[in-house]
Amino acid sequence: MLDKINALLNEVENLQARDAGELEALRIKYISKNGAIPALMADFRSVPADQKKEVGMRINELKTRAFDKINSLRAQIESADNNSELHDLDITRTAYPISLGTRHPLTLVKNEIIDIFSRLGFSLAEGPEVEDDWHVFGAMNFAEDHPARDMQDTFFIESHPDVILRTHTSSVQSRVMETTQPPIRIICPGRVYRNEAISARAHCFFHQVEGLYIDKDVSFTDLKQVLLLFAREMFGDDTQIRLRPSYFPFTEPSAEMDISCHLCGGKGCSFCKGTGWVEILGCGMVDPNVLELNGIDSSVYKGYAFGMGVERITNLKYQVKDLRMFSENDKRFLQEFISAN
Ligand code: DAH
Repeated sequence: MLDKINALLNEVENLQARDAGELEALRIKYISKNGAIPALMADFRSVPADQKKEVGMRINELKTRAFDKINSLRAQIESADNNSELHDLDITRTAYPISLGTRHPLTLVKNEIIDIFSRLGFSLAEGPEVEDDWHVFGAMNFAEDHPARDMQDTFFIESHPDVILRTHTSSVQSRVMETTQPPIRIICPGRVYRNEAISARAHCFFHQVEGLYIDKDVSFTDLKQVLLLFAREMFGDDTQIRLRPSYFPFTEPSAEMDISCHLCGGKGCSFCKGTGWVEILGCGMVDPNVLELNGIDSSVYKGYAFGMGVERITNLKYQVKDLRMFSENDKRFLQEFISAN
């Protein structure tokens, strides 16, 4: 009897199972009702009285070892299943506790501008930030000696005076016109660069969204109506607009647009310096020279254009007082916009 028990102990210690099926076969063979160990226990009756104590202890030991071995094999098989079988992974589970980032306020506002104009049928166009003099100035009807070409405003590359960082997104107008015949209806968001000293109110780079619409019958009224709709979508239904005559080389006539100050509702406050109005963009009818310079027949087509600063619109919406906040990546500032995400 003891020999049998020892042989079984030895067997049990060396049991192996590769999967749940093999494990179940072992369980049946050794510890189920008809297994080898219960069979031994049934034989216990025939053990002579003087050996009962020792045999009893050994059988108990065998039973415990067998249970432990089978349980530990089961644990091994289950953990291997969890690791290797991809279909058991819940890939939709939230990646807690990795905290998510938030969209930058300028991105939020840029996306909102794009969304409003997309609904009006404008599509997106982009152009390079590193540009040439022609697309930034020449094709936009800037005279050869226009002060905006001055070293004060434009970043040049010393060895390549023709290569510049674009100072406005109006360059994308030209990029699109030279390859596309009207109708053209685009908005062009992007980063622009100017050689300015960095302060709370000015930065050497900022962001603009340019708009351009060219077709056969385009009037100043169309421009005004689109801009009114934009202002109301962006700043609320009560918003009023006013257009002041202005000058840009690429538009004639040109205007600057103000909106009624949405902080005081137009009554006058420190934000609008008591005037009730705040400036938000420049606009006008595309100068026929610009159409011609870019290969579009100005006797057939007309157009309007507008350009706005994304920082400016963001300041109006969220009252960010210092422009530098936008590029410092201070998490405390960025997290203030979590709810706007
Ligand atoms: N490019 C001008 C600037 O950077 C903004 C602008 C004004 C764009 C009038 C236009 C426009 O398209 O019609 O200040």
